[in-house]
This record gives sequence, C-alpha cells and structure tokens, in this order.
Amino acid sequence: MEDKKDLTLALQTIKQKALTALKNVNSPETLDAWKITFLGRSSEIMQVFKEIPHAAPEERPKIGQHANVVKSELESQFESTKQHIQQDLLSHNLEHEKLDVTLPGRKPQRGRLHIATQTLQEIYRILAEMGFQVYRSREVESDEYNFELLNIPAHHPARDLWDTFYTTKEGVILRTHTSPGQIHAMHEFAPDPVRILLPGIVYRYEQMDASHEIQFNQVELLAVGNNITFSHLRGTLDEFVKRMFGTGVETRLRPSYFPFTEPSAEMDMKCIACHGKGCNVCSGTGWLEILGCGMVHPTVLKNGGYDPEKFSGFAAGLGPERIAMLRYGIDDIRNFWANDIRFLSQF
Ligand code: PHE
Repeated sequence: MEDKKDLTLALQTIKQKALTALKNVNSPETLDAWKITFLGRSSEIMQVFKEIPHAAPEERPKIGQHANVVKSELESQFESTKQHIQQDLLSHNLEHEKLDVTLPGRKPQRGRLHIATQTLQEIYRILAEMGFQVYRSREVESDEYNFELLNIPAHHPARDLWDTFYTTKEGVILRTHTSPGQIHAMHEFAPDPVRILLPGIVYRYEQMDASHEIQFNQVELLAVGNNITFSHLRGTLDEFVKRMFGTGVETRLRPSYFPFTEPSAEMDMKCIACHGKGCNVCSGTGWLEILGCGMVHPTVLKNGGYDPEKFSGFAAGLGPERIAMLRYGIDDIRNFWANDIRFLSQF
C-alpha cells in the first residue's frame, strides 16, 4: 500500500509526463490517443483514484483533492489543445482550399444530334405532314428480299447496280437499299392501302471516295392503293423537294431504270448553288440528281400480296446524306462517319 508521499509524487510525475506528451500532439488522431493514455479508464491517474481507499483514512481527502486538481488540469489542457488543433485545421483549410469566386465558370459542352440524324428527322417531319408513317425493317437481309422479290433474279445484270456485302451464311446479306422493306410492309398490310417511309442504313461494297461510302442512310417512300398514278408520284415528290429545299425549287423527271419499278425515273432539282446556270456543284448541267423513283412493278405488287389488276403504287428512294451535302455544301461523304468533332459541331 502506497503512502501519501508516494501518491503525491506519483501525481506529479503523471502530470509531468502527460503535459510533456501533450506538446507533441498536433492532430485530432494523436489527441484522441493522448486522451486514452492519460485520462482513459486504465490511465495512471485513474489508478491513483483506485488507490485512495487503501491510503490512511486521514490522508484520503488530501490525496483525493490533489488527484482531482491534476485530473482537471489535464482535462483543461486537453480542451485547449483540442481548440488549438481545430483552429489550426481551419486556417490550414482556409488557406489551401481557397475558392476564387472571381474565376469565370466553365461553360457546359452542349451535345447535338448528328447531321445525318437531323436531316432524317426533318425528312420524317415533312413526310409525316404529307401522311407518311415510318416503317422500319431489318438491315441484315436475305437475298430473297433484297433482290429476288424485287424482281432482280440471280445473275440478272441489274445486280451490278448494287455491290453487295455477303456474309458467311448462304443467302444472308447486308441490305444494299431500303427497298426490301417494301416487301416486308406489303406482306404486313396487304390488301390494305399503305403510305409509308422506310428509313435506315444500307451497305454497299464500294471503293470509298469523296462521293462513295460503304454505309449510308436511305429513305424509301411507298404508296400502294387503288388508283395511284404517276401524277401522284410526281406531285408528292415535287412537294417533298419544295418543302425540303424551298418553294422556289424547280424539279424534273428523267427516265431511268430500276427492276422493281415500271416506269422508272430519276428526279432532278434546279441546282441550288447556281440556280440552273451551271457550276461545279452541278457539273455544269444546272441540275442535281436528288432521288430515284417509279411505279411499283406489277411483279413486286404480286410478290407483296396485292393484285396488280386492282392495285397500283409508287416508290422512291432518297439519300439523307446527299440531301445534307447539297444543302450545306459538304463536299466529302466520308465526313459523315469520320467522327471529327470539328465537322460535326458545325451543324
Ligand atoms: N432502291 C433504289 C436504289 O437504292 C432507289 C429506288 C427506290 C428507286 C424506290 C426506285 C424506287 O438505288
């Protein structure tokens, strides 16, 4: 059992040790550790309190008083160190996490739709106003739908019009045009009349250059009904071109050939760059070719499930990229897939 002198000495040593240790405390973590060591339940000062009942009865109050003084001294030193540390932390943060409110903000980058998509959406809008609905069909096609049912039998010389991507699976190809969608739609709607547009990407096995891509969009138009005539074709397509390029634009039809239309034609519009005088955009002709079209061939109507004696129709195919090129003076079709932000952000 310790006597009064020992405990008094012990209290002095405890206080010395604790205050010396506190000088090295400089963070919330080391402060917590200090508190556990010098004021925690198994700290030396707490041991002293446990010893008091074993001291001589007359000494107990004095030792108790002394111990309390040391304890509260350590506690108040703890509090003031804590405040110092918090203060230091705060001024450190104020210094290092300074926010310069005079800095101008960063402008958020706005995304936009690809110019081909914008053009497609405008085509949809115009044709929707004219009563056409969107009908989608697959990009991976069978030889049967892409060619046979469109009146292009195997070995027919017209197949040379479309250089085809074949797959390793016999008879499975990437569609070379949106026309196979005509057959899919007719199979779905016959014998009801249809008035649809068929948009989407088509694929051609081409040597790429400024005017040839291996993938591009097409929009197909198809109208089938009881009394559809060549005048409907002409009026509809002329109206479409005027809504797309402006009411002043003149169009003309030239005879052409497609196996799935008869008669077939190509529509030209007066050159929008030179208004018909002849320039390098229209190769001096004054006219720009804008779409292929024709009256749906009786064989194709039959293949689609319509009686060609009772039904007739017209079809057309146009290229959104080509339309965008003419409108904006884009001279290289490869820009559409090059993903160059400098090109894309212009539109
Ligand atoms: N499918 C034809 C092409 O890709 C375009 C076309 C569509 C022509 C419909 C006539 C009728 O060249």
